Amino acid sequence: MARLDAREREIARLRTVDGLTLQQIGDRHGISRERVRQLLNHYYFHLGQSLATSHVLRTHPTAIGVITRLRVEGPKRDIRAKRRATQLAHTQQTPLSASQRSRIFRDAPIAVSDEIATLLYILARTRGGHIIELGGSLGISTIHLAAGIKDSSRHGTVLTTELDPVKAQALTTNLHRADLHDTAEVRAGDAQDTLTDLDGPPVDLLFLDGWNEHYLPVLQLLENHLAPDALVLATLSPENTDLRPYLNHVRDNTSPWLSTTLPLDAGVEMSLRAR
Ligand SMILES: C[S@@+](CC[C@H](N)C(=O)[O-])C[C@H]1O[C@@H](n2cnc3c(N)ncnc32)[C@H](O)[C@@H]1O
Repeated sequence: MARLDAREREIARLRTVDGLTLQQIGDRHGISRERVRQLLNHYYFHLGQSLATSHVLRTHPTAIGVITRLRVEGPKRDIRAKRRATQLAHTQQTPLSASQRSRIFRDAPIAVSDEIATLLYILARTRGGHIIELGGSLGISTIHLAAGIKDSSRHGTVLTTELDPVKAQALTTNLHRADLHDTAEVRAGDAQDTLTDLDGPPVDLLFLDGWNEHYLPVLQLLENHLAPDALVLATLSPENTDLRPYLNHVRDNTSPWLSTTLPLDAGVEMSLRAR
C-alpha cells in the first residue's frame, strides 16, 4: 500500500478522530484554513489510490465496495457523531454511558487506520487461529482480520462483538457483502456478556477496539481462554484515563505480559502472554 504523508495523516487524524475544525488545525500547525483544506483533499486523493492498490482489496475484490464506502463516508459521519456526543454530554452534564455512546456512533465507523488494518491482516494471515475482536463497528477491522484468516495456510475464525444491535446488523450485512461471513461470527451486545460462554478453541489473537473502560474487564474475562503465546492488540487514545487500568495491567513487569507500544495512529499496545 502506498505510504501517505505523515503530516497529512496527522491533519486527517485531528479532523476525523479529534473532530477539530479546519481553523483549529491550522492554528495548531501554523498554516491557513485553506491550506488545511488542500492538505486534506490531497490526503483523501492518496487514500483513494492506496485503497485501489491495497493488497487486501486486490485479493478480496468483493470487499472493495464495502471498504471504499466506509472510508469515504466514514470521516463525515465520525465528525457528526462526535459533535452529537459532546453536545449530549454537555446537556445531561454527565459522561455518556457506553450504550449511549454506541447509539450515537451507530452509523459512524470510527475505524482503524489503513496501517492498523494492514497489521491486523498480516497478523491474522501469519498466525491464523481463533481471533476475538472487541468493537466490530461497521466492519473495517473485522474484514481485514477475516481476509487474513482466509489467506492463511492455517485454519482460523474471527468472533467479533458489537454493542449496538443496529450496528451489529449492519456489520453482518457488510461481512456478507464482502463475502467473508463464513469466516467471521458477529455477536450483538456488550462483550462482557456475549463472551461469557466461550467454549471454542483457545484464543490466539485478541483485538481490543471498543470503549476503553471495557479493555481490562474483557481481557480478564478471556484470560483463561487465551492460548500460550496469545497476542493482544489494543488501540490507544492517549488522553483517555479509562485506559490506565488496562495499561497498568499489561505493562506491570511482574505480570505474565510482555508489552510494547507501536507508533501507529494514536498508538497500539501490543502484548504477548509470555508465560
Ligand atoms: C472504535 S469503534 C471500532 C472500530 C472497528 N474496530 C473498525 O476498525 O472498524 C468502537 C466500537 O466498539 C463498540 N463497543 C464498545 N464497547 C463495546 C463492548 N463492551 N462490547 C461490544 N462492542 C463494544 C462500539 O459500539 C463501537 O461501535
